[in-house]
Amino acid sequence: MLKIVVAGAGVVGRRHIALIQQNPRVRLCAVVDPSPAAGAVAAANGVPLFDSLSDFFSLSGMKPHGVIVATPNNQHVRGAFECLQHFTPALIEKPLADNFDDVVALRAALQFRAVPVLVGHHRRHSASLIEAQRVIASGELGRIVSVNSSALFCKPDSYFSEGLWRKQAGGGPLLINLIHEIDNIRFLCGSSCGEIVAVQAMASNAVRGFEVEDSAAITLRFENGSLGSLILSDAAAAPRSWEQTSGEDPAYARYPDQDSCFVAGTLGSIAIPTLQRWQVQGEGSWNEAMRSDKVITTAADPLVRQLEHFCDVVEGRCPPKVTVDDAARSLSVTLAIIKAVQTGGTVTPVDVRHNKVEAKTQTRLGATKRTLTQVRADALPMTELEAPDEP
Ligand SMILES: NC(=O)c1ccc[n+]([C@@H]2O[C@H](COP(=O)([O-])OP(=O)(O)OC[C@H]3O[C@@H](n4cnc5c(N)ncnc54)[C@H](O)[C@@H]3O)[C@@H](O)[C@H]2O)c1
Repeated sequence: MLKIVVAGAGVVGRRHIALIQQNPRVRLCAVVDPSPAAGAVAAANGVPLFDSLSDFFSLSGMKPHGVIVATPNNQHVRGAFECLQHFTPALIEKPLADNFDDVVALRAALQFRAVPVLVGHHRRHSASLIEAQRVIASGELGRIVSVNSSALFCKPDSYFSEGLWRKQAGGGPLLINLIHEIDNIRFLCGSSCGEIVAVQAMASNAVRGFEVEDSAAITLRFENGSLGSLILSDAAAAPRSWEQTSGEDPAYARYPDQDSCFVAGTLGSIAIPTLQRWQVQGEGSWNEAMRSDKVITTAADPLVRQLEHFCDVVEGRCPPKVTVDDAARSLSVTLAIIKAVQTGGTVTPVDVRHNKVEAKTQTRLGATKRTLTQVRADALPMTELEAPDEP
């Protein structure tokens, strides 16, 4: 049985713990969280509690098979560094980081430690998303022309009254929800259209009137010239969001006949997540009816599947499905969209593989100001792996 540590026993960490308790392949061996509330979580699960991953590794005497890092965003890369330091595979919650400098440092460190790091973009394990990606990548829809995605939902008033920071800059859907949608779009269209290479965006706070945006409209261009659009709002009483259409999280109301994404090609199109598909008969023409059918798939909880995958990764059966580089690209597109809102221009997302200097100019996710350890890939001795500074 694989021994797993969960760092961060908040909302998502507790969900990971519950999944571990239900999975016969894994056993929870410790909880890491400095908050007083975490004591009850550790006690309820019969495992020791540590204040930090550094304390865990130095004091516990345990050698876990894997660590799940479900801490706040600005602690993700720090957690990953602790795991690398101790040659322990890690599942890091999304987003990979709250800024690009941390990502550059982590990438550099990974060149010296061949330790698997899986990033928790859990929708990648969604059966309907995987099936839609298969259909798109198969070429049966022809050349992909466009992707149109919708993240329209209504956050209740209590969401804002219980967390006043959510009314202020940094607390809106651009920082909290957008990266999921970007990662979906990249996953669906990436193998057919290449990466997203340019973005434009507008945001508005006209509905709620808070300092932070409540809505945004975004346009995307892919490497092959295909285009995408995304409409995002947390003030819209609408069923068209991944949460409300996929039914993968029971916390949200579900509208199973609705879709939140539509991908169109020259020979056909597909709606997601219902997987309703249309294909031309003969020559493509708007005068001729297309044939339509539904692609069949079996639903499964993507978080359960993600944990199974992490076990496979830990056992060396396969590489991570969502690597640091892959998650870095979703982060860089998200950061580029935020910059496009601020500048009103067209922004090219940073490619972490090629441009370290440009990375430093990217907008930080979140408002925390700190100096980060700059690690050059060619100057990192094995013995001096250093985590980014404390925020
Ligand atoms: N995959 C998803 O769909 C999804 C959904 C929501 C949140 N998330 C991500 O999960 C992460 C946690 O979100 P949450 O909603 O559970 O937050 P949360 O605030 O409920 O929990 C975070 C916990 O981490 C603890 N913590 C803080 N610093 C720590 C450290 N250095 N070491 C260990 N523990 C530490 C806090 O005390 C807290 O208990 C975030 O990165 C978030 O973006 C992912």
